[in-house]
Amino acid sequence: MKLLASTADINEGEFTTTAANGQDIIVGKADGRYFAVHDLCPHAFVPLNQGYLEECQISCPWHGFTFDVHSGKCTSWEDFDGLETFPIEIKNGGIYLAE
Ligand code: FES
Repeated sequence: MKLLASTADINEGEFTTTAANGQDIIVGKADGRYFAVHDLCPHAFVPLNQGYLEECQISCPWHGFTFDVHSGKCTSWEDFDGLETFPIEIKNGGIYLAE
């Protein structure tokens, strides 16, 4: 399993970026749970890491679409594509990309 981040480095409402399997990934904590999502907005394919996280939603810095970081669902436009999410495992203080 690939280590994405240490739990000690991510507080509630925060996120960081990393890369795994050739993809840029945002790793963070929202509503008491860690998450990992693709650092790429599915609208115009720009990085999301310049957006901000509010409760469980990350907003895109370009056109403001919002996505639930746990489900990936677009919360600002019901029928729009979701954000890609990645399964993770928390183990020994690490957040790992689950295989
Ligand atoms: S590029 Fe993200 S909302 Fe348009």
